Amino acid sequence: MYPHIEIDTEATIALLTELCPAPARVLEFGIGTGRIALPLAARGYEVYGIDGSPAMLTKLKEKDPDGRVSAEIGDFTTQGTGREFDLIVVVLNTFFSAVTKERQLSCLKLVREQLAPRGRFVVEVFEPTPFHSLERPSLTVRHLGCNAIMLDTISVDRSMQLMVGVHTILDGGVPETTQHVMRYAFPNELDLLAEACGLRLEQRWGDFSKQAFTAASQRHVSVYV
Ligand SMILES: C[S@@+](CC[C@H](N)C(=O)[O-])C[C@H]1O[C@@H](n2cnc3c(N)ncnc32)[C@H](O)[C@@H]1O
Repeated sequence: MYPHIEIDTEATIALLTELCPAPARVLEFGIGTGRIALPLAARGYEVYGIDGSPAMLTKLKEKDPDGRVSAEIGDFTTQGTGREFDLIVVVLNTFFSAVTKERQLSCLKLVREQLAPRGRFVVEVFEPTPFHSLERPSLTVRHLGCNAIMLDTISVDRSMQLMVGVHTILDGGVPETTQHVMRYAFPNELDLLAEACGLRLEQRWGDFSKQAFTAASQRHVSVYV
């Protein structure tokens, strides 16, 4: 459930390699199954990742039998690697899965500690304004078939800047639901949190293809140094 995220892996890799040419050391927070990490490793980067999900890391290992990517189980908001990187990346709204401002600050402090001199931190998140003004939960029908319906609902607690997304599958049996909670931050707020941790905004685009970030942008790719 990714509000306002398009999975544009090619553009992501192109921009990351431009921002930090290989060979270089890359750390990905929430590495998942290696969608970004594996193409970077194939281009000569030394890639390291942290993820809280053993299932994701098992899938990553299956996709990476030669072990080109190194990954550890952990929480990137509380746990450092003790190493330095030329590029630190967190994509697909994963930064917002740190569900309090304090956790987001802790994550940004860990970025500062692990970023090498002249290193860059790249974060991709949605622009929360349309969600922040939701008066009622929004409902999207993802799939409407003869035997199954898939629904997404999004509700927001404005006081906490929390978004709760619920994905429901109705197929005649017991309904299956998965819930995802995110603490969204507005772009200027993110810049202030980053500044409080010694990071400065260098560039902001509306996506990985370097579209301008404007009042109409639904997401942003921000680079901090
Ligand atoms: C949306 S997926 C993105 C996966 C991958 N980066 C990609 O682009 O395809 C988010 C990943 O971040 C992990 N994650 C979320 N919060 C985390 C945290 N605080 N510490 C470590 N991993 C986390 C999840 O387990 C999941 O694998």
